[in-house]
Amino acid sequence: MSKNVVIIGTQWGDEGKGKVVDLITDKVSSVVRFQGGHNAGHTLVIDGNKTVLHLIPSGILRKEVECLIGHGVVLSMSALIKELRELSISGVEAYSRLKISPGCPLIMPYHVALDKARELKRGKVAIGTTGNGIGPAYEDKVARRGLRVGDLLNADIFAEKLKEVMEYHNFVLTNYYGIEELNYNKVLEEILEQAQTVIPMIIDVTQQIHQHIANNKNILFEGAQGALLDIDQGTYPFVTSSNTTSGAAVTGSGVGVRNIDYVLGIVKSYTTRVGGGPFPTELVYDIKTDKGDATGKMLGTIGHEFGATTGRQRRCGWLDMVTLKRSFNLNSVTGICLTKLDVLDSLDSIKICVAYELNGKEVITPPYSAQDYAKAKPVYIEMTGWNTSTIGIESFDSLPQQAQDYIRKIEELSNLPIDILSTGPDRNETLILNHPFDE
Ligand code: GDP
Ligand code: IMO
Ligand code: MG
Repeated sequence: MSKNVVIIGTQWGDEGKGKVVDLITDKVSSVVRFQGGHNAGHTLVIDGNKTVLHLIPSGILRKEVECLIGHGVVLSMSALIKELRELSISGVEAYSRLKISPGCPLIMPYHVALDKARELKRGKVAIGTTGNGIGPAYEDKVARRGLRVGDLLNADIFAEKLKEVMEYHNFVLTNYYGIEELNYNKVLEEILEQAQTVIPMIIDVTQQIHQHIANNKNILFEGAQGALLDIDQGTYPFVTSSNTTSGAAVTGSGVGVRNIDYVLGIVKSYTTRVGGGPFPTELVYDIKTDKGDATGKMLGTIGHEFGATTGRQRRCGWLDMVTLKRSFNLNSVTGICLTKLDVLDSLDSIKICVAYELNGKEVITPPYSAQDYAKAKPVYIEMTGWNTSTIGIESFDSLPQQAQDYIRKIEELSNLPIDILSTGPDRNETLILNHPFDE
């Protein structure tokens, strides 16, 4: 029997999704991206060689794997072409294996301009977006004025639609944000040129997926961002503009609810967040001034916690079971992949947040508003560290006892099995305890 597996981030992104997708695509024929855009930064390390993917599914380094971009993804053609070129320079031929849905909303130059202008205007309360135009592109989709990949197939109609949309956005850019408008002819010319690369990749992705299912082939759905950045369920408004939870695999690709067999929730052994917004277990450390919490500094340094897309310092903190448990529910997580355990190797003691203290009360569910979230004080349990290297460990039994205890504790608190354990960035620094594609 074939299986369809969804991989999602259970925290605020950067849990190590890319590494795990690449690892387990040895058993699939297709990898599908279903939401987000090039705000994602998924890092793959194979025999020490690093590749960072933003838009192209993390199956691309395996020659036999087909990569599909579903209609839930907002597509920047310039970002895609750049990524294809970079892959080609490192010897990876991606063009023939990448297929794109005609339903993908296009990220246009005015979306990028709007994203940046909005963040600037927000000032101190900025969301800290990637500046890639993700939010404004999704807004246009929902407003039903967006241009889609399929529109590229008819240049005349495209030109007409673009004129109308640009009139609207240029009005906002000049009259509301006070910045220069974008030139229609220049944008049109640029887009039509980029379209020459993209048009040959357009296929009915939904049909392709269902064909694979009919042919008994395994498919992997690759989430981007993390559950706490979900537009509906995340720490609104400090979120991204798409649904990042597992249900988006269905709506963003055209597969059916009953076609999903397993959801792998990627959990980093601690927590990180890049950009603004509440983060109860944060261990505040500022790299610019080298001031703040020593453990926060250690996690960021040893874990190389810098954004794979923007290069920004990622905020670091302890594992937070309050948000994680919510996340497991939101995503119907079947099993956990615990990553970056090795980053905790040098700690004498490790904390896990099991509740929040909020307005004088102890709560075990995340608050609704970002304001309350910001007031939540973590209640911790403390575990003894192991002070030994776990990098690339080859069996569960050879892990130090304290590391085994930490893992078992997470399983107990989650009421879920840890099916994969990652103890290093490299593809082979992983212990598969229960392969999601096995029967
Ligand atoms: P993604 O967005 O979820 O794919 O994650 P990112 O690639 O943005 O960030 C994860 C980072 O951690 C990357 O630099 C990975 O190479 C690295 N990484 C992944 N798993 C491990 C691990 O188990 N241990 C260590 N030390 N690094 C890891
Ligand atoms: P991966 O897939 C971490 C964050 C941004 C910002 C917020 C909104 O690599 O885990 P956006 O540009 O999406 O409008 O920004 O979301 N963000 C991510 N943080 N990992 C990501 O992707 C992210 N994609 C967006 O930092 O706080
Ligand atoms: Mg990332």
